[in-house]
Amino acid sequence: MTDSLSQHRHISFTAHYTGYIWYQMGISHPAFATSKGKFLAKLLHPLESWAERHVGGSMRTTLKQRHQMIDEHLCQLIEQHPQLQVLEIACGLSPRSWNFRQKFSEINYRELDLPDMAKIKTQALQQIDQHAPEVLTADIFSKELDCIFQMFDRNQPLVVISEGLINYFAQHMLFTLLKGVTEYGQQFSEIHYLSDIYPEPVKNKLASFIWSSSRLLKFMSRSAFTFHFKSSQELQHFFQDAGFDQIEVQQPQRYFAEPRQPNPTPEQDEHLGDLVWMIHAVKKNSV
Ligand SMILES: C[S@@+](CC[C@H](N)C(=O)[O-])C[C@H]1O[C@@H](n2cnc3c(N)ncnc32)[C@H](O)[C@@H]1O
Repeated sequence: MTDSLSQHRHISFTAHYTGYIWYQMGISHPAFATSKGKFLAKLLHPLESWAERHVGGSMRTTLKQRHQMIDEHLCQLIEQHPQLQVLEIACGLSPRSWNFRQKFSEINYRELDLPDMAKIKTQALQQIDQHAPEVLTADIFSKELDCIFQMFDRNQPLVVISEGLINYFAQHMLFTLLKGVTEYGQQFSEIHYLSDIYPEPVKNKLASFIWSSSRLLKFMSRSAFTFHFKSSQELQHFFQDAGFDQIEVQQPQRYFAEPRQPNPTPEQDEHLGDLVWMIHAVKKNSV
C-alpha cells in the first residue's frame, strides 16, 4: 500500500504543523521540525493568536495539553507495568517515542504511519538516535493492523496511542478503529488505549467560531473532521460498545487545576468547556 492509495493521506500535512509547534514550544527536537511545518506555523499564527485572545484557547494550546496528558498517563502505565509495550499509531512528527526511549532505554516502543510520513519520521529519528527502530507502515483501517499487533509479545501488556487523529474520521470509522484495537488485542492480558479527542464545543461561548475553524480544517485536510461526542457519557458508551471495560476521560480544567481535581463519577461528569480531552480506555482479557 502506498500513500497515494490511502484516502487519508491529505491529513498528513497537519502532522508537520503540530511537529513544528511542539518544537517551538521547546518540547521537541529540531529533527522533527520541517520547513512545511514552519510555513504552516507562520500562516496560522494570526488565527491562533486571535483565538487565544478571544476564545481563551487555540489549536496550539491544546497541542501542549493533550501531549502532556498522554505523556503523564504513559509514564504512570510504565510504572505500573514495567514491561509495557507501546504502539503509537499515526505518530506523525511527535517526539514522544524519542523522549520515552531516552527515559526508558529498554522500552519496546514502535510507531506507525502511512508510508510517506513513516519514511520522513524514520529519517528524522535516525538522525538523532542510530538505534531508533524504523517507523512501521500500515493503514489502521485495514487488516494490516492485525499483522502489526502480532509483532508484539502477547505475554506483556500493550498500549496503543493515538494523538491528533480520531476527529479526522467519521464516527463509524472511529468505531472500526476501536473495534480493531479490542479485537486484535484479545491475545494480550491487558490492552490500553490512550488518545486525545476534541469534544463538541457546546459549552464555549465562541462555539460557532470553533465549528467554523473545524470546517476549515475539514476542507484543508479533505477529511471527515468532526466532533463525535457532546458529553463524556456518550463517549464512554461508545467505547464500551467497541469492547473496552474501563474508560476514563480527563478534562484539562480539572487535570491541570492546582491541586489536581479528582474525576467525579461518570454519571456526574460534565463537559467543562475545554477544547480537548484525553481518554484512557482499558480492556482486560482472560488469556
Ligand atoms: C493529524 S496527524 C497526527 C500526527 C501526530 N500524532 C500529531 O499529533 O501531530 C495524523 C497522522 O495520521 C496519519 N494517518 C492518517 N490516516 C492514516 C491511516 N489510515 N493509517 C495510518 N496513519 C494514518 C497521517 O499520515 C498523519 O501523520
